[in-house]
Amino acid sequence: MPASTSPQIIFCCPTIDAKPWADALAKALPEAQIGIWSKMGTNDSTPADYAVTWAPTQAFFDSQPRLKAVFALGAGVDSLLKLQLPESLALVRIEDGGMGAQMAEYVTHALLRHVRRFDQYEQDTRAGKWQQHSAQNPSDYPVGVLGLGQLGRKIAQRVRDLGFSVSGWTRRTQTLDGITCYNGNELTEFLSSCRVLVCALPLTAHTQDILNEQHLSLLRPQAYLINVARGAHLVEADLLKLLDSGHLAGACLDVLRSEPPPGDHPFLTHPRITLTPHIAALTLLEPSIAQISQKIQALHSDQAISGLVQRDRGY
Ligand code: GLV
Repeated sequence: MPASTSPQIIFCCPTIDAKPWADALAKALPEAQIGIWSKMGTNDSTPADYAVTWAPTQAFFDSQPRLKAVFALGAGVDSLLKLQLPESLALVRIEDGGMGAQMAEYVTHALLRHVRRFDQYEQDTRAGKWQQHSAQNPSDYPVGVLGLGQLGRKIAQRVRDLGFSVSGWTRRTQTLDGITCYNGNELTEFLSSCRVLVCALPLTAHTQDILNEQHLSLLRPQAYLINVARGAHLVEADLLKLLDSGHLAGACLDVLRSEPPPGDHPFLTHPRITLTPHIAALTLLEPSIAQISQKIQALHSDQAISGLVQRDRGY
């Protein structure tokens, strides 16, 4: 990349330490000028061509009028789409970047923990009980994955390879080997076929609150919910209601509507809810920086890239 055309890149990641990411990008793109934005006004004044962001603020975008593209350091771009951004600004998300494998690990762990009753055995042995429960058959636990994007597909394939019967639901029809695929109009049919429901959807106006009483009631009795997407997909009071009624056996949630949750959040102490603090798939530095640097090089030479967010569909 000739010095005369070297890209100006700025990081805006107020909730994480951007330095290691900026250092890695500087290594991958030695010609680039790289800064880290701070609302305190240090190192933030140069107008940049590209931004790399995690939880960016409106103030950042207001101070950066020359940006051509913004890279989200994650798969979900809902927090970016809440901001007022110029129409012409290209938004780019991480495409897998090691997240699919982590998601698949998380979901298979949660699924097997539930099906093999490891949660029950943990409680039993802590209470001094040495007691066997009946064996469970994977065929009694058909698994449905809401959302078959890059991450949802990896989850569905890994669960299928464990011997579970797997279906998936997506806006547009897809075909995936060994996985029954339902499209947007077939949500009722899809939900009625599952006992374990995994949410891997992007958060959009259409998917917010999709995990509600009406939909969760369609799952087979003694259903189990795994949410690795966004907290706003789930109507939290509806989950409690269905756990109380016994229709749902339990849930494993990596995301909540408010993170971190308030100290008196009922999920924190619920015996049938397992929580993790939004760690199902962490953005990995090396593959993500490799992806971003290649895409900046491509955009800087006017070449097309993949991973562009389509704002009209919300992801
Ligand atoms: C994490 O939640 C992400 O969107 O990558």
